[in-house]
Amino acid sequence: MKLLIKNGLVIDPVNKIKEVMDILVVESKISKLAKAIRIEVDTVINAKGRIVMPGIVDMHVHLREPGREDKETVASGTMAAAKGGVTALLAMPNTLPPIDSAKNVIFLRGIIRDSANVDVLISGAITKGRMGMELCDIAALKKEGVAAISDDGSSVDREGLMLEAFRKAKKEKTLVICHCEDKALSCQGVVNLGFTSTRLGLRGVSNESEYKRIERDINLAEKIGARLHIAHLSCKESVELIKRAKEKGISVTSETAPHYFSLTEERVLGYNTNMKVNPPLRSREDLEAIKQGLKEGTIDVIASDHAPHTENEKEIEFEHAEFGTIGLETALSAGITELVHTGLLSWSGLVEKMCSNPAKALGIDKGTLGLGRDADIIVVSPEKEWVVRKRDFLSRSRNSAFLGRKLKGVVDYTIFKGKIVYGMEFKRNSNP
Ligand code: DOR
Ligand code: ZN
Repeated sequence: MKLLIKNGLVIDPVNKIKEVMDILVVESKISKLAKAIRIEVDTVINAKGRIVMPGIVDMHVHLREPGREDKETVASGTMAAAKGGVTALLAMPNTLPPIDSAKNVIFLRGIIRDSANVDVLISGAITKGRMGMELCDIAALKKEGVAAISDDGSSVDREGLMLEAFRKAKKEKTLVICHCEDKALSCQGVVNLGFTSTRLGLRGVSNESEYKRIERDINLAEKIGARLHIAHLSCKESVELIKRAKEKGISVTSETAPHYFSLTEERVLGYNTNMKVNPPLRSREDLEAIKQGLKEGTIDVIASDHAPHTENEKEIEFEHAEFGTIGLETALSAGITELVHTGLLSWSGLVEKMCSNPAKALGIDKGTLGLGRDADIIVVSPEKEWVVRKRDFLSRSRNSAFLGRKLKGVVDYTIFKGKIVYGMEFKRNSNP
């Protein structure tokens, strides 16, 4: 099978490419990048006026399988991924049961082998049952191929245990992803502490609950010399702490999610539970700090934190609704709309945050368009506008914080290992 992507603006910061050219894909690999490639192929994609970039590597996704297949499955989540331009993702371990043993990793691997539409990497848990009491057998998880460990959804409160986790993770050369939240400080809050919590009469979550835990985890990782990645940054003090840690040479990377650079706490004033996320939507000042963190490179990665929930779990009182928004199908467009079209990031900058930096953090050979690499490529219409509607989602859930918003940028084709896994019209057997 030969596929030719013609005349797109190819963006690949790793190989310092930003020019109009063609890409030839033979079987599953990138075989040639050049101007005006003339060759007989099976399929041609005319990418004129479009962006051609590496498939997105989304390192924070809740696929909910096993256990909550009513919210999402590996099959439905990876279809949603393909639609959003995501060709590799890291599945978070807060499933039922959690991915806290070799046996559970093997089980999930089987599901992925049978039903995934894009690459799915697995994050194991840090503690058994994600209870924060006893470490998982990290060596055994690693042996079965986990790409990282995380208790995402909660933080490991016991400092001694976390120190031990970093020690084991270092020994096993495994990335630790920290959901940074001190529950004693977030006080079962459901919205940002301050104006919003006061207006709504709801319990608030302080910035401290996030950044104090970031401070602790950076200190512990530094002590051990372990690698850590901080998930879903939401506030300005967190950005500042990570900036300082990086300046000190500590091996830390960080991520934010599109809702933290697109939406502020005012969005929850109508008690819209789709805006209920953990950490909560913050103030305008925090949002601006997150954007600056992205621009300056303190924040390395944009990940969706795709967190599907059923309507039953969302269409209830705000206090009782689940935390989370789906994001696989809107993350790229949110990035294009809020960061590229506003001039905050260049296209290459966005590709770094969504493709090459997460690939690097996970230590996988993805996120670039190098010769001989897997042909994981997306073709994007950068100016095309669309309105986020429930009916268009391929995810099994509909709980999007972006519902009703107009976004710019549409994925026209997603090519995964040389195959078009998402896309509309394409010509077969046409001559170049
Ligand atoms: O909003 C969130 N939803 N934040 C988390 O940390 C967990 C996630 C989930 O699993 O629903
Ligand atoms: Zn989390």
